[in-house]
Amino acid sequence: MISKQTIDKIFSTIRVEEIVGEYVQLKRAGSNYKGLSPFHDEKTPSFVVSASKQIWKDFSTGKGGTAISFLMEIENFTYPEALRHAAKKYGIEIEEDQREISEEAKHAQTEKDLLYKIHEVANTYFQEILWDDQEGRSIGLSYFKERELRDDIIKKFQLGYSPEQKNAFTAYALEKGYSKEILEKSGLSIFPENTPAGVDRFRERVIFPIHSFSGRVLGFGARILKSNVKTAKYLNSPETEIYHKSNVLYGLNQSKQAISRKNGCLLVEGYMDVISLHMSGIENVVASSGTSLTTEQIKLIKRLTENVTILFDGDNAGIKASFRSIDMLLTEGMNIRVLLFPDGDDPDSFARKHPQEYVEKYIENEAMDFIDFKAEVLLRDVGNDPIKKAEAIRDIVKSVSFVQNALKREVYLKEVSNKFGLSEQSLFNELDVQKQITQNQTHHVQQQQKEKTAPKLEIVPLDKEKEDPFLFDVLFMENKLVDHMLMFGDVVLKRRDENNEEYQITVIEEILHHFEEEQYTFLVKENEIIINQIKEGIQKDELRSGNFFVSFMDEEITTKVVDALIPLDELENWASRNIYPPNYGDKVADQIKGDVLLHKYRYIDYLIKETAKELDQYSTTDEGKYYELIKKITLLKQASIRLSNMIEYSPIKGIYVDRKR
Ligand code: CTP
Ligand code: MN
Repeated sequence: MISKQTIDKIFSTIRVEEIVGEYVQLKRAGSNYKGLSPFHDEKTPSFVVSASKQIWKDFSTGKGGTAISFLMEIENFTYPEALRHAAKKYGIEIEEDQREISEEAKHAQTEKDLLYKIHEVANTYFQEILWDDQEGRSIGLSYFKERELRDDIIKKFQLGYSPEQKNAFTAYALEKGYSKEILEKSGLSIFPENTPAGVDRFRERVIFPIHSFSGRVLGFGARILKSNVKTAKYLNSPETEIYHKSNVLYGLNQSKQAISRKNGCLLVEGYMDVISLHMSGIENVVASSGTSLTTEQIKLIKRLTENVTILFDGDNAGIKASFRSIDMLLTEGMNIRVLLFPDGDDPDSFARKHPQEYVEKYIENEAMDFIDFKAEVLLRDVGNDPIKKAEAIRDIVKSVSFVQNALKREVYLKEVSNKFGLSEQSLFNELDVQKQITQNQTHHVQQQQKEKTAPKLEIVPLDKEKEDPFLFDVLFMENKLVDHMLMFGDVVLKRRDENNEEYQITVIEEILHHFEEEQYTFLVKENEIIINQIKEGIQKDELRSGNFFVSFMDEEITTKVVDALIPLDELENWASRNIYPPNYGDKVADQIKGDVLLHKYRYIDYLIKETAKELDQYSTTDEGKYYELIKKITLLKQASIRLSNMIEYSPIKGIYVDRKR
């Protein structure tokens, strides 16, 4: 765990414009910078960095936050990964907070660190052998040259070579002071009883390092060069503390930015397929490394995109086995297309034969949706056998039943119905049957997950807001009041009490007072979190306003805060987007008062409507309750009328104000 002091130091040292500047070409615009959004293809800059506030905002996608959240967004780092990355860039030493860590965990932590370290050492070693050693050059490097790999690609993927000598690497690592124990745990060395000098796992092989999402080496794949030797073509690292095969995708580190930029991911089988596609300029590709896809791997892709295209060799024997991967991808809500290369070609050979543009067009034009793909494969050897054909259709409908989105499911079913000339009704019936089966299989797991992730409070789903204009109005004002708190929280307002005595109150206190008086239940979870933080601050005598939340590490909240903090006129052409700067400034005092009243007014209207609904239920069943509700509505209506007489729209100021003033 990184200590609080270190985190504070990182936040006070790093400059958002410098960190963002490594990814986005920024131009000065007044006190700010702007540039093209790295998250969205665009021609007019809509990406703003505020140097004074140390935040960024991408108006094209709505994302925003601190330098750290930018790193999280663009590199898909976790929070600690982003902090460590920034610390490294600015030469800040990370102080680990050891207080809450048990002895055992400390030990595990250092062991993990050592495993990372030994892999880093090995990775450098194998590359040095490849480039600088006589054997490495004449055998390893010339093998890659034979396969037509360019130097820059060999370096990009950090390919290496392990020499013939039985313990070359082991001896090197022992010499450097690494223990036998850690060498053995890493899987890089074996120490048989009668061989104290140890034996390297990888010998006489070219080396493919396997990287984590953020670029740390977790393990290696190693390919044999001699074709006459009777041993596995690839030898891979065993499962270790840091390498879990099912959680890793080969090439993800090198491809993540292209995947997110292109909003699509190509999925291939082999190391060489990934590398060859990169060499021809197609960089949004990862490999499952010959195993069947896991849910964890799909989730890694889903952080970047929901669109996956699976690439297969034309003569691939494992195609039918891929059906399971398709169903898993569908279950995770991914959109899938599948491409079969012509017989005899795999992505590697195809990419080397044709120019980039041709390959891209080919993938674009030839990839089928999963229905066409399954139909093609399954109907290939069905002939005219009606029973077999029905089996095939049932198999396809089964895949459709894994599609999570109801609308998409219906579209796919229509497609099946058109394709096979079957009535939609009979397919719907079949779909229901299949759904029953899959639900029974997954119900238990889903139930467990639901319990784990169940939100603490009831949040109104978006659809309901749209349907209910009353609710929407309340929600709108709720957001507005919270924005005011973030933006002007510390502004001191002068008010007068009932006896006309002047008193002072901050914006935060005044709005908070209103929420508490109404015993208001927040409709938006982020708002509730923010308000709770503000309350906690008041107890500690801290005024928590916008800047406090900027380094708060919930992404949704940072985004909300940045939205409130960056005034809209920071881009020249807001008017053309039909967005106008809000009327803030010296009108704050009036506006806050007006908006509090308006929120109250709309909230009361909403309560009236809800109570009226309840009323219907009791009109014939419970007389006592019925009259109680009538009374409630009457009181609410009186309050509503009072409020509507108080609120007035001021066309000059462009805001709602309290008429009494
Ligand atoms: N694989 C493996 N062990 C094997 C064979 C294959 O781990 N004995 C994995 C490797 O990750 C390999 C992938 O399965 O990259 C696909 O296998 P293959 O197509 O044979 O490998 P390529 O990467 O295409 O290698 P090459 O073109 O050099 O034969
Ligand atoms: Mn191959």
